[in-house]
Amino acid sequence: MKRRLISGLFLSALAFASPAFAQEAADAVSPEGGSEGQVQGLTAEVIAALEAKMEGKPVTAQNWMVAAANPLAVEAGAKVLRAGGSAADAMVAVQVVLGLVEPQSSGLGGGAFLVWYDAATGKMTTLDGRETAPLEATHRLFHDENGEPLKFFDAVVGGLSVGTPGTPALLEEAHRRWGRSPWPSLFADGIALAEDGFLVSPRLAGLVEKDAERLSRFPVTAEYFLPDGKPLEQGQRLMNPDYAETLRTLASEGAAGFYGGEIAAGIVSTVRGAEGNPGVLSGIDLALYQVIEREPVCATYRAYEICGMGPPSSGALTVGQILGMLDGYDLAAMGPEDVQSWRLIGDASRLAFADRGRYMADHDFVPMPTNGLVDPSYLSERGGLLNESEALIDVAPGNPAFDHASNWADDESLELPSTSHISIVDQFGNVLSMTTTIENGFGSRLMTNGFLLNNELTDFSFKTHRDGVPIANRLEPGKRPRSSMSPTIVMQDGAPVLAIGSPGGSRIIGYVAKSIIAWADWDMDVQQALSLPHLVNRFGTYDVELGTAAEGYADQLTALGYEVNPRDLTSGLHAIEIGDVLIGGADPRREGIALGE
Ligand code: GLY
Repeated sequence: MKRRLISGLFLSALAFASPAFAQEAADAVSPEGGSEGQVQGLTAEVIAALEAKMEGKPVTAQNWMVAAANPLAVEAGAKVLRAGGSAADAMVAVQVVLGLVEPQSSGLGGGAFLVWYDAATGKMTTLDGRETAPLEATHRLFHDENGEPLKFFDAVVGGLSVGTPGTPALLEEAHRRWGRSPWPSLFADGIALAEDGFLVSPRLAGLVEKDAERLSRFPVTAEYFLPDGKPLEQGQRLMNPDYAETLRTLASEGAAGFYGGEIAAGIVSTVRGAEGNPGVLSGIDLALYQVIEREPVCATYRAYEICGMGPPSSGALTVGQILGMLDGYDLAAMGPEDVQSWRLIGDASRLAFADRGRYMADHDFVPMPTNGLVDPSYLSERGGLLNESEALIDVAPGNPAFDHASNWADDESLELPSTSHISIVDQFGNVLSMTTTIENGFGSRLMTNGFLLNNELTDFSFKTHRDGVPIANRLEPGKRPRSSMSPTIVMQDGAPVLAIGSPGGSRIIGYVAKSIIAWADWDMDVQQALSLPHLVNRFGTYDVELGTAAEGYADQLTALGYEVNPRDLTSGLHAIEIGDVLIGGADPRREGIALGE
């Protein structure tokens, strides 16, 4: 068992942070949130899990556990696990329901990365279900007639940003490899909820209201999210018969029913017919889509191997770099209340993001120093730069060893918070960590067959070159845009000990790295680690979480030389610690829970 040592002062910092978060979570799903019907739809165990989260307590279980962003999705996964299904089976059920009840974050029209620890073989592998750039897309896709990059949202909203979805193929591939339950059975909850309706959550209602103008631009999307011209309301029962029909097709025909036939035709006509901003996705792109199995990327931190998704995600490399650079510093002794801990974490993060901006992209298309970036001697050298007492003045990419020679310019790409994370452990000891997305909240805002289409192509750098030097993450036909998604499995002595991940755009990396530090160095349980107020630094301001104890560090960080930016930092971390028992946590900033037996 890990030691639990948290100082009194820090406990008070947590306590300072927790009530607001807890209240937000309570409002999300409790009678106080004004949704009597919603609570009537929740089981006693779901309500108990929500209460545990609100009180800052983890959930424990003996056999299996699932943690995800919405109680209805978690319940669908729990049913599968209870009936003897595998973590891969449960993931399919969870994803199918998330695509309905949390449509702004992930779904069939998007992509995902999955990390899998297989109990039977003791091996870990990853599946890349990332969206691909259409074959007709050129590096000029996001340029105007003068060759200048488009404004971000001019590119996002409409058909131009839509990549070939990967999630349906990923669900099928995971089930083919590791499934135990009959495939059609995994769609039952999603179909029932889509047909009978579900109660719109406060978070979904709030986001629809905020995004109403963009959602109103396309008739199919507007009809669903703004019925009679008004944004959906919290607690309103919402049905999605088109989604139910799509799920029936997937259940009976498998992914082939998605990548061909009427669903594919609907995707292509929606993208290419998008008024004002048509895209170039074709039936050939859909027919050619492939999930790719890739080796996990692992980095050493303390007694642990931190393993996750390699390129085209920058997740495991950047999380691994941050932790690897910090390995030589005794964060445990310094603790979370010492601003020097946050200087070290912040500057390790800045150095890692400098490397990310220069070197990381889809390595099927560009040479990358993948091994060099997490090589212990390289990280030790980079970590040596942190041996200061104030913020680093110059932060530049390093010179990791390339597998073959290359020269790249620093990129320019913007990722905004969205996405969803699922962690699952089944009764057989398999562990799944999957982060899933349609990129921006509500993706491209285009909807067809009951689901939203992604805007993942805007994760490419809009700029293609800098001073004549190419940018690694520039758009190319068939390429996968660089991601920040960091589905992670932490290993100790060859066994999995933690599954974790988060949404949050490029801040995902900081959320995951910081939570691992809190769990590994500061002896917090998973719920405490997830609830800990955020301080994250990518390659610019030091972002501190508004309304929490993190704001208390603003003056000290400013004195060290950082530009500090207090702001909302809505991660959606879901984690399961694996030991003699399973211990789960869910991010109090969102609506999810951990549930197990
Ligand atoms: N679109 C979010 C990510 O892939 O990181």
